[in-house]
Amino acid sequence: MTDPTSPERPTSAGMYDFYLGGTAHSAADRAAAEKITEMMPEIQDGASANRGFLQRAVGRMATEWGIRQFIDVGSGLPTQRNTHDVVTETAPNGRVVYVDINPVVVARGAEILTGVDSATVIEGDVRQPDAILDHPETRRLVDLSAPVGLLLVAVLHFVPDDDDPWRLVGQYMSRLASGSYLALTHSAVGDQTGGQLQNAGARIYGSTATPWTDRSRTEIERLFTGLDIVPPYEGAAPGLVFIGEWGAEDPGLADSEGSRLGYAAVARKP
Ligand SMILES: C[S@@+](CC[C@H](N)C(=O)[O-])C[C@H]1O[C@@H](n2cnc3c(N)ncnc32)[C@H](O)[C@@H]1O
Repeated sequence: MTDPTSPERPTSAGMYDFYLGGTAHSAADRAAAEKITEMMPEIQDGASANRGFLQRAVGRMATEWGIRQFIDVGSGLPTQRNTHDVVTETAPNGRVVYVDINPVVVARGAEILTGVDSATVIEGDVRQPDAILDHPETRRLVDLSAPVGLLLVAVLHFVPDDDDPWRLVGQYMSRLASGSYLALTHSAVGDQTGGQLQNAGARIYGSTATPWTDRSRTEIERLFTGLDIVPPYEGAAPGLVFIGEWGAEDPGLADSEGSRLGYAAVARKP
């Protein structure tokens, strides 16, 4: 098996950085991301919509619901206005634990966060909730007896059915305090395009260390079992929406093709 840290092998974190217009990716990341972009030009818009969701969800958790501690699993690089930038702007004394499976992302992230005392980055696998929640760095910054904002944004489509993402979300939420929030997005490309990315993604993301699993709206909705989904924007009923629509001032304007590549929701633990 190829070394997952080999610069020859594309990574989903680096490909995502490319879609967001960043500069923190390798040549292999760029080549793989360019191939996907050729097949699906809307993927770059989809990545921006996804990062926009993350920013709006974190902002709302901090300003409207008073959340001061965030665990961001599958965080990617702490660049392109990722979680700690939003927390710094919106939550006095806010703390962020970034978690990523990719050791290259973690090493680079740690360099970027040098001198930032309120944020840290640890290596961890979303499929191991206890290892993440009990990690000494998590415990240093996060008090699990108080509400937490858990971010599982654009990461569970890297978890195959065999690893039961529904059980994993339940495990995380069972360990968090009442009043905690879950913000989640998930690819549903097959729903929208007859499986275009499923095919392209299966091939290209299959060459990364984190292959891709698309899910239907119903399967994604099931991830929120036992939680109270909040209305995604003013006047909307609680439920899932296309990624770009969540928290949008004008959901009609936000309804782009890229935004429709997946679903988003934020939910509160009762
Ligand atoms: C598409 S990026 C999402 C970045 C950020 N959460 C966002 O939405 O803006 C997905 C990230 O998940 C990470 N990842 C993939 N599988 C993972 C796993 N099993 N555990 C933790 N992180 C994982 C990848 O390394 C990558 O950095």
